[in-house]
Amino acid sequence: MDIDCEMAKNKIQRGWRIVRLFSKPPIIKRAMLRFIKNPYVLVNMLGVMTVNKYFNRGTFLPFSLDIELTTKCNLTCTYCRVNKEGWQERAKLENMKFEDFKKIIDDTKNHLFIIKLQGMGETLLNKDVFRMVEYATSKGILVYTFTNATLVDDNNVHKILNCGLIALNISLDGGTRDTYNAVRVNADFDKVLANIKKITSNKKNKLPLINVWTVGTKENIKEVPNLINICSESGVNSLTIQLKFTTWNRAEFKKLAEDVRLDENEIKDFIDDCYKLAHEKGLNFDFFNRTFTKKSPCYWPTTSFYISNERAIVPCCTIGEPEVLNFGNLKDNSIAKIWRSDAYQSFRKIIKEHKLPDYCKNCYGEFD
Ligand SMILES: C[S@@+](CC[C@H](N)C(=O)[O-])C[C@H]1O[C@@H](n2cnc3c(N)ncnc32)[C@H](O)[C@@H]1O
Ligand code: SF4
Ligand code: SF4
Repeated sequence: MDIDCEMAKNKIQRGWRIVRLFSKPPIIKRAMLRFIKNPYVLVNMLGVMTVNKYFNRGTFLPFSLDIELTTKCNLTCTYCRVNKEGWQERAKLENMKFEDFKKIIDDTKNHLFIIKLQGMGETLLNKDVFRMVEYATSKGILVYTFTNATLVDDNNVHKILNCGLIALNISLDGGTRDTYNAVRVNADFDKVLANIKKITSNKKNKLPLINVWTVGTKENIKEVPNLINICSESGVNSLTIQLKFTTWNRAEFKKLAEDVRLDENEIKDFIDDCYKLAHEKGLNFDFFNRTFTKKSPCYWPTTSFYISNERAIVPCCTIGEPEVLNFGNLKDNSIAKIWRSDAYQSFRKIIKEHKLPDYCKNCYGEFD
């Protein structure tokens, strides 16, 4: 298949995934309500997808935001940046306060469509997380989050299910106890499975969708059929195997990636078999391997942004750390001012011109 054809296929697949994510009736209803109650959100979104795509000024404001609510985590997963060399200072930061979160929502409520509450720590460690979801949801914004699901218990399960989330994404990086426990250091496979069942058995409404996410590597790929069985028996809504492996442009993760990263083309038949099995089990299932290209560049700088726990504006969750790149802090400036700053405009330009900084190369499949 030639490159143009491959790109077109990738674009269609990406578009199809977004359609599938939003094609669930309760989510469509929430989205429609968002647009009906605040039509400018739709106008802004259309502006982002057209005007912002071609001009670097950031005329329209981002419609999607990731927020990091904590830099702390109770686990030390082998492939994650958190709790590794150089993370100690960030781990000491105080969790984001409700008042600071509220200010972000009040400032963005007229242009944001969706928020992912996920940074580089474990979101459930911020005790205000449910209040925060409730507040953003009360403004009409769709909110979802990622969790390692180790901290779910009888006291918080109802809050998790009823605070207003549209989706709860649970990371499960192995289909057997040995593999999972080796990767997700300090977590226990059986406890996490029990927690997933606690969530699905207490769920009374269509939302939140309960989605399992697995970082697929050479270490766990053979266990995907097992994960499909586990997920279909647990009553979750979907399973996604993410093949994109982030290295944060750091030597230790680049070395690890060389050992564990999968080449999708080498496991095509296996992927087909997994789709067949999931179909038989009636499970919504996907392999996810987003790679940007020169012709189809990263859309984050023009559509979305990331606010770190210390309220710095960072382009995306893949960069994740303000020390690597940030365009300013909300303590000193407004979101709109930072979004339209010269530095942000220059960043959009270099991404469009494919003059990629080292920390972006991994997203384009350019590994060194
Ligand atoms: C950084 S975690 C934060 C949320 C939460 N603590 C969790 O584990 O779901 C967000 C997601 O990033 C994934 N992740 C961590 N390290 C990664 C890497 N090197 N490459 C790709 N994904 C990674 C995790 O598996 C998780 O699904
Ligand atoms: S639980 Fe999430 S944040 Fe914590 S170390 Fe694992 S992947 Fe990183
Ligand atoms: S690291 Fe660079 S290429 Fe990757 S998502 Fe972020 S801005 Fe885009």
